[in-house]
Amino acid sequence: MSKNILVTGGAGFIAFYLAKFLAKNSEDKITVVDNLSRGRHDAEFSTFLNQPNVKFIEADLTKTDYYAQLENHYDAIYHLAALNGTKYFYEKPQEVLRVNILSLMNLLEWCTPANTGKLLFSSSSEAYAGTVKSFGQYENFMPSKENIPLTIDDVMNPRFSYGGSKLIGELLTVNYLRTKKIPFSIIRYHNIYAGRMGFEHVLPEFCKRIFDKQNPFKIFGGSETRAFCYVDDAIEATAAVMNSQKCDGEIVHIGKSDEEISIKDIAEKLCRIANFDCEFEIEAAPSGSVNRRCPDTTKLKLLTGFEAKINLETGLKKTLDWYLKKYSEMKN
Ligand SMILES: NC(=O)c1ccc[n+]([C@@H]2O[C@H](COP(=O)([O-])OP(=O)(O)OC[C@H]3O[C@@H](n4cnc5c(N)ncnc54)[C@H](O)[C@@H]3O)[C@@H](O)[C@H]2O)c1
Repeated sequence: MSKNILVTGGAGFIAFYLAKFLAKNSEDKITVVDNLSRGRHDAEFSTFLNQPNVKFIEADLTKTDYYAQLENHYDAIYHLAALNGTKYFYEKPQEVLRVNILSLMNLLEWCTPANTGKLLFSSSSEAYAGTVKSFGQYENFMPSKENIPLTIDDVMNPRFSYGGSKLIGELLTVNYLRTKKIPFSIIRYHNIYAGRMGFEHVLPEFCKRIFDKQNPFKIFGGSETRAFCYVDDAIEATAAVMNSQKCDGEIVHIGKSDEEISIKDIAEKLCRIANFDCEFEIEAAPSGSVNRRCPDTTKLKLLTGFEAKINLETGLKKTLDWYLKKYSEMKN
């Protein structure tokens, strides 16, 4: 049976790949909402919008006038729109809180059992960024399961504007939708990467240094570890969570836990893939950045049967190729 699907933030990174993936089923109708504040109306997005089963609503989710453009009913709502990006956490913390909380609240206010089949809210590992630091016992929390306590260890640090907005978002989703009796799932993404992920994350920045042949190659931090998950795996996991009734009312971690790597090692790996020989210069990590992040994905596998498959080497190669091409186009 054909489905009506709403994807917010679809001009951005993950939701764009997700919307494209969902639109492959030509019977389904995909509506994408974005205000293009961070998302891009580039050639890839235009090509996607040309598909007959795709509709684009350019709207600001912090207002409510977009309600008039929505369909009467969505079987599935993927809410991924957010003000994301570490730079914004520090430079515009009040805007991060305003956009992330208001966008979600407006959507939750619109949802009724008659117009919404199920809603999925994309939270983040940043919602527990303070936990490991505050409680100290790494072995108890790593890799992190879904029941990890959510902690903000320093309200005065603007970085927690984002993690805080996701923590509040989880509370809003659970309590609004339980009250309204609408099925929901919450996912927490862990370091998703690929081409078209923007320019402010660590991997695009490393690709830029490779493009510029920066030598010595600067790294901020370096010893912190992350478990990166290629976007194709992340979106398949996202759809699997939406489509599994076992995930209703559940929080599920999405990521790839078996190739945890330090930032310095990933820089070296990228340079090796690019055949770029250089020295490394280590500078201090930004304040509030966590030392270790790695999801436990047992629950995802248990409830959906899905497990991330794309290894780091393959994902990094694709990402590097995309960015080197993009930087070269931008230069010309
Ligand atoms: N990328 C990751 O590794 C990661 C990790 C954890 C959580 N997440 C979460 O996943 C979701 C997608 O992340 P992403 O990396 O693709 O981010 P992104 O910034 O690339 O995409 C977010 C999109 O939301 C849109 N948007 C922002 N404010 C809006 C508004 N007021 N109205 C309408 N649209 C608006 C932006 O224009 C952008 O296209 C976000 O909720 C993010 O917090 C991502």
